[in-house]
Amino acid sequence: MTPLADALRTLTVDLGDRGYPIHIGTGLLSNPDAILPYLAGQQVMIVTNETIAPLYLETLAQQLPEELDVQTCILPDGEQYKTIEQVNRIWGALLEAGFNRRCTLIALGGGVIGDMAGYAAASYQRGVAFIQVPTTLLAQVDSSVGGKTGVNHPLGKNMVGAFWQPRAVLVDIDSLATLPDREMSAGLAEVIKYGLIRDEVFLSWLEANMEALRAHDARALAEAIARSCQIKADIVAEDETEQDVRALLNLGHTFGHAIEAHQGYGNWLHGEAIGAGMSMAATLSRRLGWIDDAALSRSLQVIESAGLPLKAPLGMQRDDFLGPMRRDKKNTGSRLRLVLLRELGDACISDETPISLLNDLLDHYPRA
Ligand SMILES: NC(=O)c1ccc[n+]([C@@H]2O[C@H](COP(=O)([O-])OP(=O)(O)OC[C@H]3O[C@@H](n4cnc5c(N)ncnc54)[C@H](O)[C@@H]3O)[C@@H](O)[C@H]2O)c1
Ligand SMILES: [Zn+2]
Repeated sequence: MTPLADALRTLTVDLGDRGYPIHIGTGLLSNPDAILPYLAGQQVMIVTNETIAPLYLETLAQQLPEELDVQTCILPDGEQYKTIEQVNRIWGALLEAGFNRRCTLIALGGGVIGDMAGYAAASYQRGVAFIQVPTTLLAQVDSSVGGKTGVNHPLGKNMVGAFWQPRAVLVDIDSLATLPDREMSAGLAEVIKYGLIRDEVFLSWLEANMEALRAHDARALAEAIARSCQIKADIVAEDETEQDVRALLNLGHTFGHAIEAHQGYGNWLHGEAIGAGMSMAATLSRRLGWIDDAALSRSLQVIESAGLPLKAPLGMQRDDFLGPMRRDKKNTGSRLRLVLLRELGDACISDETPISLLNDLLDHYPRA
């Protein structure tokens, strides 16, 4: 795939004839060459939300030539709206516009919009083209890459969905200028995750560059996004449908999803729950004797330096963790499977944690 002229970096998700580029750069939203090559036909539906529409919708829409049939679908903002009802609204908008199987959906927004627009694309007329234009750091380093799409169900987060790969991922770093600090920190949780599971050198780089990242330094952001996307792309290419190694991307997520469910979607941000969840996973790895004190303290420090919580929510009991943890998609038999650290930069999936050790962690882990 040819690199886009003003993209700082172009990576490839290597999935054979379903492979696609990730362009990371500045000014991509206002560059028609970034988007036009990936449209499937004449019909385009931009899916976004009420917060992002006033900021970026017009800029993006202006890049699309007049002869195209361009429609927009603007959804309410929030994790609590990541539901099948909202996907139904996207399907409705596509049908009302008379869109056929050669239409293209463009997801303009964070992970919530990307997951829902992706699922609408996976299912509309059994599958149409879609393009990810992620506008949060979390979406730029994680959710827009790899083709996991779907919605929440009242009984569980992300419990309904499909694997459906985009045709391209366009990461415009400029769009982070309007992102609130809390959302930046949440995105950094997933960035730290990549260092912890796969790349100790990247983790050291993050320790040295955390301030620059939090200050929106474009060069540092481009580097962090590119390295994160490269790790994710490699893992997805190896194991697209999460039979084994892709599950490593869930470091901190088993604990984190329980926190999100307990607090009600949207009260703790996903990345915040993952920050505390990774701290819990690192602590458990220490108690198993897998990592040493120095590695544990580096893990906790880098999470804290990103502005993320280390402690679990006040009032959350052992069973509030265990209920959702037992429904986790990683479990195959009766034993809980957890992503743990063998050392910094090397994670594994293990069902060997003695239940007494897990109970002790859940009972005594600090709360705030
Ligand atoms: N599919 C995957 O592989 C995958 C991976 C990780 C997370 N996820 C999912 O992603 C979701 C979380 O994504 P998220 O953190 O992007 O949350 P989000 O989509 O809710 O976005 C966070 C907030 O930022 C706003 N926003 C987005 N871009 C903005 C911008 N440029 N300027 C100002 N505000 C902006 C949004 O409107 C929202 O209020 C969760 O539902 C999670 O399950 C999916
Ligand atoms: Zn996540």
